[in-house]
Amino acid sequence: MCGIVGYVGSRAATPLLLGGLKRLEYRGYDSAGVAAWQPETLAIRKCVGRLSALEQSLEQQPVAGTLGVGHTRWATHGEPSEVNSHPHTDCSGRIAVVHNGIIENYQELRAELERQGHKFCSQTDTEVIPHLIEAELKVGAASPEEAIRRALRRAKGAYALGVLFHDQPRTLYAARCGSPLIVGVGQGEQFIASDVPAIVDQVRRVIYLNDGEVVALRPEGVSISKLDGTAVEAKIQPVTIAAESVEKAGFETFMLKEIHEQPRILRHLLAQHGWQNGSVAMPDFGLGAPYFRKLNRMMVVACGSAYHTGMYGKLLLENFTSLAVETDLASEFRYRDPKIDPGTLVVAVSQSGETADTLASIRMAKSWGCKVLSICNVPGSTVARESDAVFFTEAGPEIGVAATKSFTAQQMAFALLALFIGRARNEVNEAQAQELLSDLQRVPDAIVYVLERREAVRKVADKHHDGPSSLYLGRRFNYPTALEGALKNKEISYQHAEGYAAGEMKHGPIALINEYLPVICLCTQTRDEVYAKMISNMKEVEARHGRIIALATDGDAAMPGLAEDIIWVPAVRDEFSPLVNVVALQLLAYYAAQARGTDIDKPRNLAKSVTVE
Ligand code: G6P
Repeated sequence: MCGIVGYVGSRAATPLLLGGLKRLEYRGYDSAGVAAWQPETLAIRKCVGRLSALEQSLEQQPVAGTLGVGHTRWATHGEPSEVNSHPHTDCSGRIAVVHNGIIENYQELRAELERQGHKFCSQTDTEVIPHLIEAELKVGAASPEEAIRRALRRAKGAYALGVLFHDQPRTLYAARCGSPLIVGVGQGEQFIASDVPAIVDQVRRVIYLNDGEVVALRPEGVSISKLDGTAVEAKIQPVTIAAESVEKAGFETFMLKEIHEQPRILRHLLAQHGWQNGSVAMPDFGLGAPYFRKLNRMMVVACGSAYHTGMYGKLLLENFTSLAVETDLASEFRYRDPKIDPGTLVVAVSQSGETADTLASIRMAKSWGCKVLSICNVPGSTVARESDAVFFTEAGPEIGVAATKSFTAQQMAFALLALFIGRARNEVNEAQAQELLSDLQRVPDAIVYVLERREAVRKVADKHHDGPSSLYLGRRFNYPTALEGALKNKEISYQHAEGYAAGEMKHGPIALINEYLPVICLCTQTRDEVYAKMISNMKEVEARHGRIIALATDGDAAMPGLAEDIIWVPAVRDEFSPLVNVVALQLLAYYAAQARGTDIDKPRNLAKSVTVE
C-alpha cells in the first residue's frame, strides 16, 4: 500500500527516488509521482499506472534537484488518476506532500479550509495536509516544522508523510503516526522510506520513527521532535538485511525465488531453535516459563495468509498442549467483545508487521492487560515494536505480493512454539518432543523434493488453468492449507477459487461440481482418521464427474484409480504435512498464473502491506 521515498543530499534526487519506488512496487500501487526542488519552483511529475510511465515522463522532461520526494499510490479516496496521485500541494504550489495512510477527519478539515478560501483539486484525504500546513504558516507558525506539528495535531487517522517546502532547499521533512516510515542515514545525505528494502542499496544505518514524531532531514544530519515540540534523541540502528536479498537472483520472478528459498529458511529456523537441555531451544520471550505454565488460553489474530497460518497454529497448539486456542481475523477481532483477560496470551501473526487491523488488535489486547507475542518477519516493524515478545521468522524480505516463504516460516514458528509450550507445561515429554523435532527436520528435504518435481505440477496447471473456477478441499491440519491454496490461486492467477473443509462440501459446494470443475483434494494425512473421510469426499466428487486433482503421498495406491491428476509429495508426519503441501499449491497457482499471463509479483488491486483499515 502507498510507498514513500525521499532524499536530501548532493546527488540528483529523481533517479534515487525512482530506484527506491521500484523497490516498493511490491507493496501494490496504481499511480506514482515525484516532487523535486528547483530554484524557481517545486517540480512535480505524476502518472497513472506503472512506474515505467513516470520514468518515461522524467526522461522526456528531466527534473534536476538534490531534494525530493516520491510516492506510489494505492487508491483509497478517489480513483487512480493523475490529479489524485501524490505529491499534493497547497494553493501556492510551494509545499508538496506525499502521504501513506488515511486522514479520517479530512472532510471536516477540507470544509473548514475551503471556507478560508483554500482551493482543492483532488478527491483525496491527503490534500488537506499541505493546505493545513499553509494555513498554519499564515497564522504565524514559527517554522515549517512547527507548522507541520500544528497541522498534525489537528489530523486524525494514520499517516506517514514526506514534505517539501520551496523556501527550504536543504531540508526534507517527514512525520509518522500509524503508517510505516524510516529514516536512512547516509554520509552527507539522508533518505526517508516506507521500509528498509527501498533504500537497502543506499544506506547501512536507519532510524525507525515512532508514532507522533516529526523529523527534519538535512544533508549533515536529522533532528526529531514530538508533536508537542519536545526534542527526541535519534536512535540509529544498523541495517541487517543484505542488498542482494531484494534481487531476483536469476529467477524470473520474486515469487519463484521466494518459493525456492523455503527449505533454507526452514532449516535455519530449525537450527536456531533445535534441541537444547531437554527442550526446544527458544528464549522464553522474556515471559518466563512460569508464565506459560499458568496460561489458560491463547488467542491468535492475523489477516490474509497469516490468518491461515494462525488456523494451523491453533490446531498444533491444541494438539500438543492443553490450552484452549482460538484464531480470529484481526479485522473481526477488533470489533468483538471476546471476553479475554490477562490470563490469555494474544499471538499476532504478521509478515510485514504493519497490517492496520493486526496492529489495532494488538493495541486492544494490551489495553485488556494481555501479553502479546507476535510472529513477525520484519525487525523494527510496528508489530514487532509494540509486542511484549517477538518470534522473528527470519525469512528475509518478501517482495512477491503473494505470501510464500513467510507463510511456511510462520507455520514452522507455530510448530516450534507448540513444542516449546508443550515442554514448558510438561504436556509433551522429552522423548515425544525429540521425536517431533526430528520429524520436523524432515520437512525441508521434503520441500526440496516437491520443488524438484515442479514440472509435474506445471503440467497439471497447464491442463486445468483455463476454467472459471476451482475448489480446494482439505481436512483438519490441511483445511487451512486448502484455504491458502485457493487464496494463492485467486491472488495471482485471478481464477476464482474456493477453499473448503471437505466435511462441509455436502453443505453447499457440492452443487458446483460438474465435469468441468477442478477439485484439488488434499489427501496426505494417511495415518490420520480423517484420511478415510477424505477418500469418501473424493468419491462423492468422482460420482458427480468432478475433475479430481489429488495431492497425495508418494506410493498411496488408493489415488491412481480415483484422481484424474495426482501431485505426489513425500511422506512426512501428518501434523507437519501442511508445510510441504502448501509448497505444491504455491507452485500450482504460480504455473496457472503464468499460463494465464498475469503479473505474478504484482497482482492487480493487491497490496503487500495493508496499512489502512
Ligand atoms: C496482504 C498481503 C497478504 C498478507 C496479508 C497480511 O493482503 O497481500 O499476502 O497475508 O496482507 O499481511 P501481514 O503482513 O500482516 O502478514
